[in-house]
Amino acid sequence: MTKEQPFCLVKPSYEKTKSSKIKSPESSKIPLSKKEMYEQALAEIKDRVKEVDSIIPRMATVASVLKNAMPHYFWCGFYFAEEEEMIIGPYQGTTACPNIAYSGVCGTSAKKKETIIVPDVHNFPGHIACDERSQSEMVIPIMDDKGRVIAVFDVDSSQKAAFDEIDKKYLEELMPILLEREK
Ligand code: SME
Repeated sequence: MTKEQPFCLVKPSYEKTKSSKIKSPESSKIPLSKKEMYEQALAEIKDRVKEVDSIIPRMATVASVLKNAMPHYFWCGFYFAEEEEMIIGPYQGTTACPNIAYSGVCGTSAKKKETIIVPDVHNFPGHIACDERSQSEMVIPIMDDKGRVIAVFDVDSSQKAAFDEIDKKYLEELMPILLEREK
């Protein structure tokens, strides 16, 4: 009988895999507050992206760390602001619409250059439903140093009114970090 082969035969070049420092809400006896969860998540993101120069892996890291850290997130990810429409970037959660018009929450945030909190997506005219389980949403624009919107970060929850000023504060603090080392 032949010995079972390991599934991955290629040794990864990046061997010093960091384990997450984030305490999962289930493993912690005292539940963390939303503020504490953001503090931990942002510290982890800053640590992980400090040696990463380009925006796509930085975005992928943000989406993954936040989706795994924040229990009220159903979906989170980026849309790039193109001329005619918005195109999906790195995301975590159920499969998203790849191209969306500027009519939805993402497009409105990009056009107004401001964060939009939507407590009930059914009450937002033009809302684009990529997954009908999404009940509330928040979108933060990402602007370059000339004030041009290059992308937005979109967060969805399956609960109504899941996002508030705490989410806004931490996510607005986080977004400029994505562009810090981008040349
Ligand atoms: N709801 C968004 C579309 C993107 S999905 O939520 C992933 C909007 O109205 O722009």
